[in-house]
Amino acid sequence: MNCLKTDGRLFYIETARTCYVFSIEHGYAEHLYYGAKIPYSDCNALREKRSVILVNTLYPYEDPSYSFDCKGFEFSLPFRGDSRSASVNLVCDDKVFDFEYEGYEKNFRPEQSPMPLPRKYDYALNVRFNDRSHEGVRLETRYLISYDEDVIARYCVLINASGKDIKVLKFSSAQTDMSAENKKLITFHGAWGREMSKMSQDITCGRYTHGSFSGMSSAECNPLFFVSDANAGENSGEVYGFNLMYSASHEISTEKTPYGGLRILHGIQSENLLYTVPSGEKFTSPCSLSTFSDKGFNGASENFHRFVSKAVLRKKEIPVMLNTWEAVYFSMNEDKMKKLADNAAAAGFECLVIDDGWFSGRNDDTTSLGDWREDIKKFPGGMKALSSYFASKGLKTGIWIEPEMISRKSYLFRIQSEYALADDRLRPVVGRSQYILDLTNPAVAKYVEESVSRLVEEYGAEYVKWDFNRRFAEVKAEKGSGYFYDYISALYAILARLNEKYPQLIIENCASGGGRFDLGMAYYTSCGWASDNTNPLSRARIQRGVSYGYPLSFTLNHVAASPGHQTRRASDIKDRINTAFLGVFGVQADISVISEDEADEVRQAVSLYKVFRKELYDSTVYRLFEDGDGYVIMQTLSQDKKSGFLFLMREKFDTVTQLPVIRLKGLEKDKCYRIKGDSTDVCASGETLEKAGLVLPQNYQGAETSDGILNLTDGKTLLLRITQKECL
Ligand code: GLA
Repeated sequence: MNCLKTDGRLFYIETARTCYVFSIEHGYAEHLYYGAKIPYSDCNALREKRSVILVNTLYPYEDPSYSFDCKGFEFSLPFRGDSRSASVNLVCDDKVFDFEYEGYEKNFRPEQSPMPLPRKYDYALNVRFNDRSHEGVRLETRYLISYDEDVIARYCVLINASGKDIKVLKFSSAQTDMSAENKKLITFHGAWGREMSKMSQDITCGRYTHGSFSGMSSAECNPLFFVSDANAGENSGEVYGFNLMYSASHEISTEKTPYGGLRILHGIQSENLLYTVPSGEKFTSPCSLSTFSDKGFNGASENFHRFVSKAVLRKKEIPVMLNTWEAVYFSMNEDKMKKLADNAAAAGFECLVIDDGWFSGRNDDTTSLGDWREDIKKFPGGMKALSSYFASKGLKTGIWIEPEMISRKSYLFRIQSEYALADDRLRPVVGRSQYILDLTNPAVAKYVEESVSRLVEEYGAEYVKWDFNRRFAEVKAEKGSGYFYDYISALYAILARLNEKYPQLIIENCASGGGRFDLGMAYYTSCGWASDNTNPLSRARIQRGVSYGYPLSFTLNHVAASPGHQTRRASDIKDRINTAFLGVFGVQADISVISEDEADEVRQAVSLYKVFRKELYDSTVYRLFEDGDGYVIMQTLSQDKKSGFLFLMREKFDTVTQLPVIRLKGLEKDKCYRIKGDSTDVCASGETLEKAGLVLPQNYQGAETSDGILNLTDGKTLLLRITQKECL
């Protein structure tokens, strides 16, 4: 499909509902417009010179009306007249870089890259810029366009054939210049156990950066963010969405200028970056994804969900799993595992994931990472026999591993301490008593690959939970934080090889919960553990945050014990099930120690989930209420618009308050729908449910209760089924 119109000077990239326009002026790639689609024929008007001659700002010698600080560009360099933050900063001898437009390739075919590129796209454009002061140095800006999804993946490549080393101090994937008028920035920050908290702030004059510095995409700041109209809401307003297909330290920055412009930079973290690109080599940034919707945040999220499902994820059906972590922690043995397997199979589970604690010497979290051999004391029959036992019960075997790590107290550290990212001349800095392995050492990469292969080939794993539980301290000093780029490239290469070797293998992405919940890891794994916090009240909020950028089919949720181990908050089994249902469903609790009633609820949930999972994976998700309204309300709708779910979490209850009227989304106006579950049974047309909304039954008011009223108090949930039906 052709998504490009150009006269060789004006470049007009189009998607179904957006366009992205730039023009070559004085050898610079001037960014003219990104947003709701306008006709190509009108774009010359955008190129009209705005003859503002600003006192003090700089311009090309031949054109005094062209003020650098007032124009938008596809990328920018320091010391060239644009005084905003530059997207790219390179050093080579004493000459400043000055990339000038050289040409473009339409229908471009990107070469293999150390960074993941979208699996599918409709069109690719490559634009080339040669450096005027260093012969043989080229910068290329690339655009991979997904037409129906309204997503453009942008990235940059530096090609060095200068005969000299180039030092990279900054290398953003994408620069987006636009008007700063009336904009706000929405990022997702947090910490362990409270990932993906939405933070909205005004964009004010000056430079603002957010991001991660720890070597991981991090729970502190997810790479997903939005820039929107100040008054944009879930269902209305103009919203630009961005995400990065990258799992190491990243940077989001905004700069509002005194001239009314806004520069948005997105890419790898530039703090402490010192990366050498030798002559004869390339440096490729990760892909920055951007989308635009004039239908509010739900519109932008829907674009991202469709894109991620089509172009990022490895499509797999994830088995309904029981995970052993909170059920037994480190206290595991063969008998316990068999008993868990018996119960799991009887309850209809499809997979039992043996979490941390199964390998030799691992009785707490201070030792043995790296020694990925079965613990014969705990499993006298061996792991293979155990996985065969699981198989005889109809269960797949899942095994936890943290393959990028090494405990200080481990056999591996004794014999191969040089594998660790540690320097004995320095005071040891550890997290959970462990170091990270230096994956950039090919011997280490091989060790990691072999360790994971052993789980599959010798122990019978069909599911691997891939964990990562500490952040970086030491790096290879000569690269500074550029080491993270090499590390993550090496990790991606290992994951790619494993995926090729074991196409059926399901890999779960975990990093102390959601510490590396990003599209880089999503590219190589099949589902992601968004947080260790499974308490419904916390979890619903986390899942709401996740839903801004990541589809249900990637988001793994578990029902765990009550009171929740992270929050000590008690919750009903029904609320835990309802909350876990919207995503990839699992349980991490010993179901033999819960009451018969609760076990029954779990059994029913497992069997219901199996019926609906396919629909859920492909469904569109809507957030129905604005953040902070005291509720988390999410709706799903199947692609054929015939069925869905409505989830409601009441975060805070007060006496004598009305439940909100819920206006559903996406329904077919002239079709009839039935909304059923708990004490609710309502039939109305799609039009009525969208315009007037769903009126829920009376809720408990603080006194007296009777049959047929809802009981939505603090942390209580509803899960209602939406089905299209014949109109009466
Ligand atoms: C991390 C994960 C948990 C569990 C433990 C095991 O914290 O997020 O789910 O696997 O490690 O040590």
